Amino acid sequence: MRTVITFGTFDVFHVGHINLLQRASALGDTLIVGVSTDELNYNKKQRYPIYNQESRAKIINSLRYVNFCFFEESLEKKADYLIYYGADVLVMGDDWKGKFDQFSEICEVIYLPRTPSISTTEIIEVIGGN
Ligand code: CTP
Repeated sequence: MRTVITFGTFDVFHVGHINLLQRASALGDTLIVGVSTDELNYNKKQRYPIYNQESRAKIINSLRYVNFCFFEESLEKKADYLIYYGADVLVMGDDWKGKFDQFSEICEVIYLPRTPSISTTEIIEVIGGN
């Protein structure tokens, strides 16, 4: 039984997100997703996500690739989450390459290539939001 865990905001859900989750789920038997809270996003980016955390978690939970999700409340708790959920693998998109290497003491750390030419920030800009 191999448990895979990944983290993200997954705001304005798009195909880059689904590609990441699909490939992450193929690396193990169970995929757990830490969805960052609205407050955590505000602290990081000084703006709230377009979709609130309940909506974002509902979308993530409805995907066939995902077994369940929880709210990531603090960046400092990453190691705690990995241990609590018994992660064998931490998967992140390669925009985070190297940033999570310290967790290889707890589990395997794999960076997957991002889907080119799509991001939430870009979608928001194109639509003309904040
Ligand atoms: N991701 C991906 N390919 C993309 C966009 C995102 O593989 N084109 C991955 C990220 O690397 C991350 C996960 O999806 O592991 C969640 O990313 P998130 O930051 O929520 O999405 P972005 O679209 O990158 O959002 P933003 O533009 O606000 O950073």
